Amino acid sequence: ATRLWGRDFPNPIGLAPGLDKDGQAIDATLALGFGFVEVGGVTPLPQPGNPRPRLFRLAEDRAIVNRMGFNSAGHASVAARMRTRARRGIVGVNLGRNKESTDAAADFTAGLRAFAPLVDFVTVNVSSPNTPGLRDLQGKDRLRALLAHMVAAHATLPPPAPTLLVKIAADLDEAALADLAEVALESRIDGLIVGNTILARPTGLRSRHSTEEGGLSGAPLLAPSTAALVRIRKLTRGKITLIGCGGVASGADAYAKIRAGASLVQLYTALIYQGPALVGRIKRDLAALLHADGFGSVAEAVGSAPS
Ligand code: FNR
Repeated sequence: ATRLWGRDFPNPIGLAPGLDKDGQAIDATLALGFGFVEVGGVTPLPQPGNPRPRLFRLAEDRAIVNRMGFNSAGHASVAARMRTRARRGIVGVNLGRNKESTDAAADFTAGLRAFAPLVDFVTVNVSSPNTPGLRDLQGKDRLRALLAHMVAAHATLPPPAPTLLVKIAADLDEAALADLAEVALESRIDGLIVGNTILARPTGLRSRHSTEEGGLSGAPLLAPSTAALVRIRKLTRGKITLIGCGGVASGADAYAKIRAGASLVQLYTALIYQGPALVGRIKRDLAALLHADGFGSVAEAVGSAPS
């Protein structure tokens, strides 16, 4: 178990967004043993997403390429469904934006307001690769303006307000990471999720689908996303809570993220390849690894890797 932002996480392994886009399986995914689940991305208005095919298994690479393009039932419908369920477990929502939208700040603050009474955390997603222009919001000036807006809107919410997180891409270059770290530090957000799928294709992919357009997730993302996590931790001087996401498929992978600086870990693609037993396996193996290295808790091990 681990405690962050005044919330008790029964374990640090979470379900990343994209599997349960519309919040249809919250209790079922929590029942798999995840310590928290993130619903979404949810767009303000309903939209169908990109034409099919838009999701490709790279089985030989234990990876996925997707260009879903935010297929979403929309804020109102997802919020209404969530309102009908008894609140239990730690649940967050990933906020996306409509393809034709022109006002990112308005979209994200609308999402924050719609879901604030229903969730424990809200993630501002500025890193999905399949919505034109979305990743540009990670640029220094635009991100600064957007987060100022979000933090101001957050301050007006009645307590208990949700934790405010920002999810970034795992393939930003050093200059972009430095800008992002600077803005994150001055913005008073609660944490950063590192990170989303990547547009790059690491060498050595074997699947015939590897050249499909879209974001790459799964095993090939483990090394680059953990490297980005290490960089962000250094650039933010350990002052921002980090969530590690990308390619986690075992207890050892989760442990590597935690030692690199992640207080929590999320996964999605490995669940597709390994099935529901994965969650328990990761938790057991992680506990054994922590124990073997003499750590008495998850929190003790965060950032313990030599840098
Ligand atoms: C995603 N991911 C994602 N992320 C996000 O912030 N909002 C979203 O709507 C989605 N949608 C989505 C759909 C599909 C089909 C996939 C495969 C992924 C990204 C996901 O949350 C995660 O960041 C990456 O997949 C990396 O983690 P894994 O899959 O390597 O464990």
